[in-house]
Amino acid sequence: MIQYSCTHGGIYTVNPSLVRIDFSSNINPLGISRKVLNVLRKKLPRISSIYPDNEHTALRKKIVDYLDGQISPESINIGNGATELIYNFVRTFVRNQVVIQSPTFCEYETAARKVGAKIKHVAINTRQLDIERVLEKSKNSDAIFFCNPNNPTGLFSYGIFEKLVEKIDKSKMILIDESFIEFVDEDKHPRSFIEKVNEFQNIVVLRSLTKSFGLAGLRLGYCVSHPNIASRILCNKITWNVNGLAQLAGVTALDNLSHLRAAKKIIKSERELMYSRINNNLSSFSASKSDVNFYLIKSHHVSSKKLGDFLLEKKGILVRDCSNFTGLKDKNMSIRVAVKTHSENLELFDSLESIDK
Ligand SMILES: Cc1ncc(COP(=O)(O)O)c(C=O)c1O
Repeated sequence: MIQYSCTHGGIYTVNPSLVRIDFSSNINPLGISRKVLNVLRKKLPRISSIYPDNEHTALRKKIVDYLDGQISPESINIGNGATELIYNFVRTFVRNQVVIQSPTFCEYETAARKVGAKIKHVAINTRQLDIERVLEKSKNSDAIFFCNPNNPTGLFSYGIFEKLVEKIDKSKMILIDESFIEFVDEDKHPRSFIEKVNEFQNIVVLRSLTKSFGLAGLRLGYCVSHPNIASRILCNKITWNVNGLAQLAGVTALDNLSHLRAAKKIIKSERELMYSRINNNLSSFSASKSDVNFYLIKSHHVSSKKLGDFLLEKKGILVRDCSNFTGLKDKNMSIRVAVKTHSENLELFDSLESIDK
């Protein structure tokens, strides 16, 4: 039977009234910026009653500026969240089979299954990838999906994917999901494949504005590719796919990058604080190293499901139980948590400490 949906975090996956703090969604710890909110409030009456720009002209222009003019507006497709673009990519390029790294974000597989494609998984070993295996599995495939930084395991070396992109048959399309790249620590020098889209026509790079700028409820994402590829993806766009408020929020957010910079500072210092607190003070839990805005916590005694239920029911804290991440080592004993503000992170630590043996 085709699986029509897959599991995510977010408060609507449980009884929302139980959730005080949501650690299960990896979005900007500061949420939406005040500047974006003020502009939305002011423009709400007019924008709510007019049709949105179907061509997303202002937003695409703003993204070109944000990407330092490396690409043209014709290279950009805008989606109702990055998720919509995964489906449009699949409808455009996938017929028979796809290769997907494992573990990773589940929507690539769900989208591919919906068009009847077979799935070939390639295991990623911590942060390594067996390129020869990917090449072998890609032989009868239309497309390959990679996520970097990967949900839930974090940042990969850019060089591994670079080698793969160079070696792979150019008839295979590659979706590289960089939805979390803006949260990577500066000293890790994250490099984007956007710089390669004009050289390699088989690459599509996916970004999410919902995470970077705290717009998860408004829904906004984009993908960048060679204009020839972008125009093919565009054929699968639904008219007025992105509402006017989301478009305005995106333009305003990209005009005020200090919000993202402030979030990045918090993420780095808070993540390191939680890492050392958990690993130095608790014997029932260990936190994994991470370079992004989320990390894994391994529980040594209770299952991830039991731990998640306890945190939600007794503390109002929602975490992402990892037991349904195909291919994740120790998935039944692992939870994924977002890096949030200092006081929220302390609440998580105190809750874990309260059940530490
Ligand atoms: C790797 C990855 N890509 C894309 C998405 C979806 O992003 P959006 O909210 O923009 O649809 C998620 C959501 O969790 C994700 O983890």
